[in-house]
Amino acid sequence: MPAQKSLRFPPGKTLPEELSIAMKRIEAHGVVYPEGYYQTLLEKYTREGVRYPHILMILGQPRINNHFFYSRALKGTGRLLDYGCGTGDNVRQLLRDGFPRERITAFDINRASIDLGFDLYRDKEEINDFFIVSDTFTSGPAEFDMVYSASVFHVIADDEEFNNYLANAWSVLRPGGTLFGSTLGQVGEGASRPHEEWGPPRIMTREQLAGCLTGAGFTLPEIVQRHHVPHYIADNRCVFEFCTKKPA
Ligand SMILES: C[S@@+](CC[C@H](N)C(=O)[O-])C[C@H]1O[C@@H](n2cnc3c(N)ncnc32)[C@H](O)[C@@H]1O
Repeated sequence: MPAQKSLRFPPGKTLPEELSIAMKRIEAHGVVYPEGYYQTLLEKYTREGVRYPHILMILGQPRINNHFFYSRALKGTGRLLDYGCGTGDNVRQLLRDGFPRERITAFDINRASIDLGFDLYRDKEEINDFFIVSDTFTSGPAEFDMVYSASVFHVIADDEEFNNYLANAWSVLRPGGTLFGSTLGQVGEGASRPHEEWGPPRIMTREQLAGCLTGAGFTLPEIVQRHHVPHYIADNRCVFEFCTKKPA
């Protein structure tokens, strides 16, 4: 697929600083970096860009373990797909929490974020086999019991792609399976004004989110509103965590 343009870091945020902070967070997970590694990565990502700067800004801080469905996911017995896995932060958290590795698949249309995760965690050889990268979705029907979708809805600008994404999530789930995840949302009504360079393109209200999910065939979702910390996007933003099922 053609190389995608990198988004810009939001005002006040820079690659050198965010890379350094991300490396410190990941060192806290026990990763050890060789001498000069920061400089090597800085040169690489200055040259290549970071497709989603926000991913670097949160790398090393998985969110799946804070999701209200997470304890139920850990007790689940079936297979889990991280759909739009990015760096794989959440997959690594599942492993740390004892989720069996043979039941995890992570899919993304973009290799760059997965490679950013490998560069920072330095674990490509151990977990490369989880990841599938393809322009087209490759999983067959009813293969999974859970689909996790974190911060993916809000990055998909195109309506047709968004509808395909939801249709794929529905299709790969077994009847009775669960789709859970999160997306940036908007509190209240008011027009949503996405920022062209660093803002996400699809910001939904709670009602719009519920409507998309039920429109794709899922049951009425549980939606929990969380505070959204970075105020550089807009004051009325929040994170919606959601959990819904494919009817049995
Ligand atoms: C903001 S990142 C979030 C990554 C990760 N889920 C996380 O929480 O850190 C959004 C990810 O969705 C992926 N993505 C966008 N459109 C997609 C699609 N149609 N199918 C699968 N992944 C998609 C992007 O490539 C990117 O890795």
